[in-house]
Amino acid sequence: MKTNGFCGRDWIDPEFSYSREEWETLIDVALELKRRYAMNEDQTHILRGKTLYMMFFNQSLRTRSTFAAGIQQLGGYCVDLEPGKTYTPARKGYEIPYQTERICDVAQVLDRTGDALSIRMYGEHGHWIYGFCHETMKEFAEYMRHPVINMECDKLHPTQALADMMCVREKKGGFKGVRFVMSWAYSGSTHKPYAVPQSLVLAPSLMGCDVVFARPKGFELDPEVIATCRRYAKMNNATFEETDDMEAAFEGADIVYPKCWGSGEYFAKVKGGKIVKPADLKGMKKLFDRNKDWICDAKKMKLVKHDGIYMHCLPADRDMEVTDEVIDGPQSVVFDEAENRLHAHKAIMAMIMGGRL
Ligand code: CP
Repeated sequence: MKTNGFCGRDWIDPEFSYSREEWETLIDVALELKRRYAMNEDQTHILRGKTLYMMFFNQSLRTRSTFAAGIQQLGGYCVDLEPGKTYTPARKGYEIPYQTERICDVAQVLDRTGDALSIRMYGEHGHWIYGFCHETMKEFAEYMRHPVINMECDKLHPTQALADMMCVREKKGGFKGVRFVMSWAYSGSTHKPYAVPQSLVLAPSLMGCDVVFARPKGFELDPEVIATCRRYAKMNNATFEETDDMEAAFEGADIVYPKCWGSGEYFAKVKGGKIVKPADLKGMKKLFDRNKDWICDAKKMKLVKHDGIYMHCLPADRDMEVTDEVIDGPQSVVFDEAENRLHAHKAIMAMIMGGRL
C-alpha cells in the first residue's frame, strides 16, 4: 500500500509536533474530502476495513458523532469503548483491582486488533491535575504502534483546532494579516479545561495569524503555550498580544472566539507525584462571578471589522458566554465549524491511518 509521511503518526499535540506546511496539507485534504462528500462521491476505499477504537471519558456530541460517521464514510468501523463498561484504563498508582486496567496492558491489547485509538479525557478523570490527561494519552502512545488521536485532553483540543483553521481558510482566504482574537468568556460552569483556548492560540499563531489573547486576571494559560505562540508569531513575521481588556481586543478583529475556561489557580496542586491540594472548583466560581461582563454581545461585536466573524467550538453557554443575538446572527459561523469537524477528522484519519485518497 502506498502511504504518506503522516502514516502512523500520533495526533496528540500537533500544535507542537506538526509543521505549518503539514497543517496546510491536512486542511487541503479536509477540503478535498468535503468537496467529494458534497458531490456524493464514494470514499469507502480510503480506509476500507480499518478499525478505530474510541474512548470517551467525558461527554461529547460533535466529536463523537463526526469521528463515528467519518470512519464509516471512509470504509472503516468504529468501536466505542466506554470506560466503566470496559475496565477503566488507569496509570500506575491510580489503580483499583478488577475495576481498572493498567494503560500499558490496555494499549497493547487494542494495538493488536485496531488501527488507531482516539481518546477524550479531561477534568475529574485526571483529578484536575493540569497535564495529567495529556500525559495519559502519551502513555497510551508509548505502548502502541498504531496512532493515538487526542479528541480533547486537559491541555489541547487539536481536532477542533484543525476544523477551525479550515474554517478560517474558507472564510478569510488564508491566515496572513488575519486578526484572530481568543478571549475568555463567562460561564455558569467552572468545569472547563484549558484545551480549546490553548489550541486556539497555538494553531492560528502557527498558521501566521495576528493573534490576540484576552482574559481577566487569573485566567492566564500555560506559559509554555504562550512562549510557543510568541515564537510562532516571530517565525511568521506576525504578532501575538495578550490583554485583560475584552473590548480593546475586539477592536478591528477579523475573528473573535470568546469561550470559557477554568482558572489554573484552582486546579489541583501536586508535589512529588502526590496531590497536596485538591482542585477547588467551588472557590473558582467566585472568580468567575466577578467577571460576568465578559460576554460576547451585539455591542462588543460592533467593535469588530464589518466582515468580522464570531466563532465558538460549541456547546456554547448561551446568555453567559454569548447572547442569542450574536450566536444566531449573521456574523456567527458556529455551525460551519461543527460541520468541518467531520471533514477535518476524516483528513486526520485518512492521513495517519495509511489511507489511499
Ligand atoms: N466542540 C466539541 O468538541 O464538541 P463536543 O464536546 O460535543 O464533542
